[in-house]
Parts: sequence; C-alpha cells; structure tokens
Amino acid sequence: SYQNGSPAALSNVVRKKLMGYVGFANFPNQVHRKSVRKGFHFTAMVVGESGLGKSTLINTLFNTKLYPKKEPLPPSADRPQTVAIESISADIEENGVRLRLTVVDTPGFGDFVNNDESWKPIVENIEARFDAYLEQENRVNRQKMVDNRVHACLYFIQPTGHALKQIDIEFMRRLHSKVNLIPIIAKADTMTDEEILLFKQRVLSDIEHHNIRIFKAPTYENEDEETLNENEEIASKIPFAVVGSDTEVDTPDGRKVRGRSYPWGVVEVDNEEHCDFVKLRQMLVRTYMEELREHTNDVLYENYRSEKLLGMGVTQDHSVFKEVNPAAKVAEERTLHDAKLAKMEAEMKMVFQQKVQEKESKLKQSEEELYARHREMKEALEKQRAELEDKKRRIETGRPLTPENKSNTKKKGFLRA
Ligand code: GTP
Repeated sequence: SYQNGSPAALSNVVRKKLMGYVGFANFPNQVHRKSVRKGFHFTAMVVGESGLGKSTLINTLFNTKLYPKKEPLPPSADRPQTVAIESISADIEENGVRLRLTVVDTPGFGDFVNNDESWKPIVENIEARFDAYLEQENRVNRQKMVDNRVHACLYFIQPTGHALKQIDIEFMRRLHSKVNLIPIIAKADTMTDEEILLFKQRVLSDIEHHNIRIFKAPTYENEDEETLNENEEIASKIPFAVVGSDTEVDTPDGRKVRGRSYPWGVVEVDNEEHCDFVKLRQMLVRTYMEELREHTNDVLYENYRSEKLLGMGVTQDHSVFKEVNPAAKVAEERTLHDAKLAKMEAEMKMVFQQKVQEKESKLKQSEEELYARHREMKEALEKQRAELEDKKRRIETGRPLTPENKSNTKKKGFLRA
C-alpha cells in the first residue's frame, strides 16, 4: 500500500516498529493526571413545571444537598411574572476527582396563565452563555476562558399518562438545536409499569413527529460488545422515568436505601427494577458527561457561532462593497490581465526558442554527416589515384604486375577499361 501515488506515499508516512520503550504510551496517563488536577466543570439546566421534583432529582443525582428544602410560596406572596433563571454552583469530589457542578434552574416555567413564551427567556439565557464564550474567544488574551455554556438540559415531563403537552413540544422544538436535551418523566412512582411503558412510547412518537432532536449517545467503530450493550440499554430507557429522593428510608427487609416509602412498600431510587434513575445517572455523569460537553462545544456552539459570524459577515461584506472604488477595481483587473498576457508571451517565446534549437542541432548533425561522406569519397578517390599512379610508373619502367596487383586490377576493372 506504500506504492507511488497512493495516499500513504504522498503523505510520506511509514509504519515503523519501535526498537525499545519510548514512553508515549504514557500519554493517556498524563492527560488523566492533568485533567484531574484541573478538575471538571459541568453545567446542567433543569426545566419543568414547578413541583415536578427538579430540585430533589439534582440532589439525588449528585448525592448532595445542592438545593435547600424550599418552602412553597404563601398565596399572598408576590409571584414573579416571568420565568427566572437561577444558577447554583457547588464543588463536589469523588475519589479525588473534583467537579464544579453548576445547575441552572428555571423557576416559573409553565406556571402562568399564558405560557406561550415560557421558552423565550431560557433560549435567551443559553444564547447569552454562548455569546459570553464567543466574546472570550475573540479576546487577545484567551488564557483564562470561563465556560458557562449549558452542557445538558433535563426536561421534566409531567407524568400525565397521556401525551406531551403543547408547552413541552414548543420548548423542545425551540431548544433542541441549542442544547443537549434529555427528556425525563418525573415522579415515575405515580404510574404503574405498564402506564410508564405506554407513556414513553407516546412521548417518543411525539418527539419524532415534531422532528425534535434529543441527545443520543454516539457509538464509535470498534467499540467492544460490553460498551455497545451498555449504550443500547441506556438508549432503550429514554425518556428516563425517574424517582427522586434525598432521604433514606428503611426497607421491609431491613436495608437503608434512598427512596420513597409508601404504605404498600418502598420505591428505591437506585434500584433499576423500580425506576430509570441509575440509567439517567449513567448517561449524564458516569458515561457521557464528556460526550455532552464535547457535543455542546463541537456541534451546538459551533453551529451557533458560525451562524452568528456569518450573519455579521454578510453586513460587513455589504459595507466593503460600497466602499470599493470602481476605478481602483478596473486598474486592479487590468494589472491582472497584463500579468496574464506577459506570462503567455514568455511561454510562447520559450517554446519558439526550443524549436529553433532543435532545428539547429538537426542541421548541424546533417552537415556533419555530409562532411563525413565528402571526406570518405575524397579519400577513396585519392587512393585510386595513387594506385593508378603506381601502375603507370610500373608500365613505364616495364616491370611485370605481381599476382596481387593483377587480381586487384581485375577486380577494379581499371585495366579492362
Ligand atoms: P420548584 O422548586 O417549585 O420548581 O419544584 P421542583 O420541581 O424543584 O420540585 P421539588 O424537588 O421541590 O419537589 C416537589 C415535591 O415533590 C416535594 O414534596 C418532593 O418531595 C416531591 N417529589 C420529588 N421527587 C419526587 C418523586 O420522584 N416522586 C414523588 N412522588 N414525589 C417527588
């Protein structure tokens, strides 16, 4: 495969076996150490009508009391008129790995009489975060970039058992190109297993019908079977039907678990038979946190960025066009044209000279050939003259011809003549 003309030959890459240990097999460890030292940063947004258990689920997910218990607002209190955006950050650590977790909450979403534009402040907030990042990228000094972009959006669906509501569809449609959407069926313990299955199917077909893109874990080539199975299992649970609880309860068989206790038994948060919480955590934290960050940066942000820059570029182009001086443009075109002509002329001259040279060398060659023939003939004639001279002398002196002379003379036929 390294023959001439193959891409491998063009790029001059050859495969070599190492003679001994060099050390670059240690690269992954270097990257590992470095990223652990730097720590990780993840921003999750939670959206959904109030009371669906958003705060509880975040506390459950990251095993921390990120959210204090909220007191419901008294009826007399002034309720905010718009969707608010609040963010809380916390540094959490697990086995020496630090994670700065930021949760963006959106209280008020879906809480109004008219919720037509509930999605708007949320889109604006996500875009503002992209803009802030873009602005940092364009700075001269890009040493300390702060990345506040939202890496995932957990969208809480009310466990109605019917289908998606208009507000759900509208929100997801507006947001799917800006953020990794992860749909969640809240408070799954309020439905039976069968109801959950049916509801999931409805939600999925609604999502498909409205061409909404939700986050799908990517699969790579050459992935081992275990990973493939894990991916498939996670994907099969979307939308995750979850139960949240940040308190521990006693099970009838004497275990202490995170869950919710009912007169008929205990719903365990971390039990895969009871709900999809474990799979959600696996997707969001254990397996795909980096994938979510990467997709946010490489696809969602990149699209936003290029659209924004293109938008700016078009107006810039217009102004440039107006400023262009037509005379300068003509002059520029003429210089280009002249240069092209000069080049053509030079090329033609070169060809002409080459042809002349060829002709000259051919003529010289035939001249030499002619000259050589001429010399040969002259020599032959000279020789004949000498022989005749010799013969004449012998005849005059009366000496007989030697046999050699005889045959010679016969062959040439001079005597006969
Ligand atoms: P806002 O802060 O008003 O937006 O509400 P929220 O969505 O953050 O809900 P929160 O976590 O405060 O929970 C609301 C109520 O639902 C609390 O009484 C929780 O104990 C309860 N709750 C939370 N998760 C679950 C769940 O999975 N199942 C059930 N049945 N109840 C839950």
